[in-house]
Amino acid sequence: MTNIEKETAYQSAIADLGALLEGEQDIILKMASINCVLNNKFPYYFWAGFYLAKNWMLSVGPYQGSLGCLHIPFGKGVCGVAAEQQKTQIVADVHKFPGHIACDSRSASEIVVPVFNSKKKLIAVFDVDSDSINAFNKIDQEYLEKILNKFFANDD
Ligand code: SME
Repeated sequence: MTNIEKETAYQSAIADLGALLEGEQDIILKMASINCVLNNKFPYYFWAGFYLAKNWMLSVGPYQGSLGCLHIPFGKGVCGVAAEQQKTQIVADVHKFPGHIACDSRSASEIVVPVFNSKKKLIAVFDVDSDSINAFNKIDQEYLEKILNKFFANDD
């Protein structure tokens, strides 16, 4: 997808999710819907899902794709680094990322975005894998951060 096509698809996802999730409070319901809407709009998404953060450990939450790893400690893999640093990670080639956790050997590139609540506490990370190298760029980062902020930054 070109950057323009990505932007159009993310804007359409925001519109769909805004209409669908208006007034919704349930975190799991929101996570499941965000996964589904995004996964269906982006052909380069191979796995999309949330890992829930608790006591320096990530545990798999709602996701779409092949079987995900269950537990990931903070600091381990791309998800654990995103959780520990509380910063979005874009990995163009997961085989070159030291400590990458391969839940599915077909994953080739990855973006992981931290999710914060109203108290700026990390509640989860959102992980998207692609089976193509170098699938994610600043457009994905900008829009995913915007979507996660829109739907979780008001939660307790
Ligand atoms: N590859 C991730 C683990 C999660 S799965 O890709 C679903 C990582 O290195 O954190």
